[in-house]
Amino acid sequence: MFAQVLRKLERELSIPQPQILSIAAGFQAHLELGLNRQESSLRMFPSYLQAPNGYEAGTFIALDFGGSNVRAAVIQLKGEGDFQELSRLSFPLSATDSRRDLRTSAVTAEELFDCLAEIILEVLQNSSVNPSLISGTSGPLPLGFAFSFPYCQQKLEEGVLLNWDKEVKTSGVVGKDVGQLLSAALVRQGLGIVVRPVAIINDTVANFLTAAYKDPNVDIATIIGTGHNTSYLEQKAPGFAAPVIINTESGNFSAAPQTFYDQMLDLQSANPGEQRFEKMLSGKYLGELFRQIVLDLFQQGLLVRTLNSLPAHWNRPYTVSGKDLAELLAGKAEVDNRSLPMSDDELFALQRIAHLLIKRSARLVAASLIGIVRHLDPHLSNPHTVAVDGSLYEGMPGYSQELIVALSEGLEGNAFQISVKLSAGGSLTGAAIAAALASFN
Ligand code: BGC
Repeated sequence: MFAQVLRKLERELSIPQPQILSIAAGFQAHLELGLNRQESSLRMFPSYLQAPNGYEAGTFIALDFGGSNVRAAVIQLKGEGDFQELSRLSFPLSATDSRRDLRTSAVTAEELFDCLAEIILEVLQNSSVNPSLISGTSGPLPLGFAFSFPYCQQKLEEGVLLNWDKEVKTSGVVGKDVGQLLSAALVRQGLGIVVRPVAIINDTVANFLTAAYKDPNVDIATIIGTGHNTSYLEQKAPGFAAPVIINTESGNFSAAPQTFYDQMLDLQSANPGEQRFEKMLSGKYLGELFRQIVLDLFQQGLLVRTLNSLPAHWNRPYTVSGKDLAELLAGKAEVDNRSLPMSDDELFALQRIAHLLIKRSARLVAASLIGIVRHLDPHLSNPHTVAVDGSLYEGMPGYSQELIVALSEGLEGNAFQISVKLSAGGSLTGAAIAAALASFN
């Protein structure tokens, strides 16, 4: 029976090579429509930043607000692609020790941004920065803010949040300029003359800057973590005389074929209809897709042998995480630190389902990257380097290999033109580089 169930799922979740090509073509079409300000699921936000030259230098504050953590650092850029973190702090957005879960609708914008200003104060106090810099007597320290949500901006130091995603729901931020919210919180914290936010950037743009600071060949940067998105260097963006990094907001791509489970997950999410691509493939959602599939098979009586009942907490959404899937694939019959009483074939079936989801995720990302490469270079005559960051890519067994296989299938004989390199933890450094670019322009 398992074999039959798995075959059906395999059919639903597989993306054969011709489909990689058609998704890539759809992605390229949406990209080009969005770039020309026509209707598209890709928002194609200009970042107002060019690629760095690698010689940017100085001391900057970097703040990174993602879907799972807040991080702050004082970073000294040394030029020639070199940098040093003078201090760094991070904390998870969800409740641990005294800090509350900052993602819920019970938390206000002021409370959230006060926490961000506090972490900036702490990181400054912990660093060995020259006291005249901290006191503000030699002018405020420029701050770059990597903000990993869809926002629009007319200038580098502003970012008006369009909508939350990754299940964050903090009140009073949507429609507001996060640059102004941060500046106001810094004033409340007594840091008004010490720190000046000069650049708001998306985390994929930050990843781009960090990777390109060291390697001028990087022309695409993607995040495959809690969320998913890709930026690239556009040579001919309408309205820009020079090349500009564009944040595609690819997580919102709407033309990939969905299964019943994808549709259910979307309907039950905090933002139905939005971020459909991201919900099919990123770390925030893979565990939930897995939970919904397993629950459905179980309720249909298709997954019963020794596994007589699923643990009660499986009825609650988002109780299975991407990390659980990684452990399952590594052979642990455990979810949420609780072991599952399973037979060997049940464990095999669950592993197979997890593997199908992960493989599909990598193939979807590969298709979107191919769409970008084809836009940049239709005949694939030049080499391209994609910088990748994110917990799913780094931590999920087999993910990076699946991505490479899918890229080579999708690029057919030209796969040698694309190289993929890990650029781990680039958000903070990228925020510092953005602050440097803003200060020197
Ligand atoms: C956000 C993007 C972000 C990506 C990766 C998505 O949910 O919309 O802005 O770049 O996650 O963090």
